[in-house]
Amino acid sequence: MYVCICQAVTDRQIIAAAERGTERLADLRKELGVPGDCGRCGHCAHALLRQVIESRRPQAVT
Ligand code: FES
Repeated sequence: MYVCICQAVTDRQIIAAAERGTERLADLRKELGVPGDCGRCGHCAHALLRQVIESRRPQAVT
């Protein structure tokens, strides 16, 4: 699914970037150009990054 129409960047590309260690939206912008000038994808791209980062964290044992 396209997250950023302007730069033609998909969710898979963002997930792959996060799995390579990209954690900040500023770094994602350098790597993939997302979010670009219109910025409409910024919230979705950031949420996707956070989702991957959170899934990598070890779960607390309760
Ligand atoms: S939709 Fe990503 S910069 Fe426009």
